[in-house]
Amino acid sequence: MVAQFTASTLLSIASRNIGVRSLSTSFQRCSKVAVLGASGGIGQPLSLLLKNNALVSQLSLYDIAHTVGVAADLSHINSKAVVNGYAGADQLKQALSGCDVVVIPAGVPRKPGMTRDDLFNTNASIVRDLVDACAENCPKAMLAIISNPVNSTVPIASEVLKKKGVYDPKRVFGVTTLDVVRANAFVAEAKKLDPNTVNVPVIGGHAGITIIPLLSQTTPSVKFTNEEIDKLTKRIQDAGTEVVKAKAGAGSATLSMAFAGARFVNSLLLALSGKPNVTECAFIKSDVTESSYFSTPLVLGKNGVEKNLGLGKLSDYEQKAVNACLSELKNSIKKGEQFVGK
Ligand SMILES: NC(=O)c1ccc[n+]([C@@H]2O[C@H](COP(=O)([O-])OP(=O)(O)OC[C@H]3O[C@@H](n4cnc5c(N)ncnc54)[C@H](O)[C@@H]3O)[C@@H](O)[C@H]2O)c1
Repeated sequence: MVAQFTASTLLSIASRNIGVRSLSTSFQRCSKVAVLGASGGIGQPLSLLLKNNALVSQLSLYDIAHTVGVAADLSHINSKAVVNGYAGADQLKQALSGCDVVVIPAGVPRKPGMTRDDLFNTNASIVRDLVDACAENCPKAMLAIISNPVNSTVPIASEVLKKKGVYDPKRVFGVTTLDVVRANAFVAEAKKLDPNTVNVPVIGGHAGITIIPLLSQTTPSVKFTNEEIDKLTKRIQDAGTEVVKAKAGAGSATLSMAFAGARFVNSLLLALSGKPNVTECAFIKSDVTESSYFSTPLVLGKNGVEKNLGLGKLSDYEQKAVNACLSELKNSIKKGEQFVGK
């Protein structure tokens, strides 16, 4: 699992990758990463980006169909990661064996008029069964769950892992990075800033009003009018629906989600490699609010969540938004937990 690169090769490849702004020459741990749902709209471009990540030594592509072709295609790219395709449940064990990170974009996306919760009936069992296989075959892997509704699929994953006796809340993440990426893009656009330099933490969950951008904590520090705050917050909350409408029945965000997913996985890999102070927001088991899962900025380390950085100082507008989202969040979490308890 551990490949040795020369420091200069590693540095030059990794610095071209998603989210890598600087990398010390001492990070040489390379990892096996699995993408479950790898043939899909998110899965394919995400796998492409991961194939180009110098911290990935083996890339395992799993789906119910078409992965052999996707893997053959990607394997012709002259980067280090060795790519293998696995199709169908009888190959899942092999796909997962020895994985350090498993990223899950398997399941159906929204069509116009649907909420993320409308996906529950189809995606809940997909995530349950895939996480069950992770518990069996790579119980120590970091799990990055993209499949919606994230506010329920992350509790589902946790309950499955608990049943199997391998639950570690520090290793289970709901991927909310796309909300941060969107917030950064929209703020940069509104304030004519370089989007690469903007960081807006986004807390809460990943659906509608549970998505709470902390514009008051934007770096570099930016001044907004009340009207701007309201408009930007609503646009960030509805950004997924903006894409669903624009795609007019052909799916939801795939390319921007692949970018965001690759950034999140890259951060996990950097943290696994020993890079200090790697920070990302993600939806995790949490005691920061009354909601038992909540997204906040986290410091990632070799064992997953190293430190929860909490809410920070909220504006009145943001505090109200947190109060307003708690009951929806708690219901979505309960729905996920009860699904596994059944
Ligand atoms: N977290 C986020 O920010 C975010 C953003 C966008 C989309 N999503 C979600 O990501 C999911 C995937 O979206 P997409 O656009 O890639 O959908 P898609 O339909 O294009 O691809 C989904 C893939 O999952 C596969 N799949 C279905 N059942 C499976 C199983 N049991 N095992 C393995 N693979 C299986 C399908 O064959 C397909 O290839 C959706 O649930 C969507 O709502 C999340």
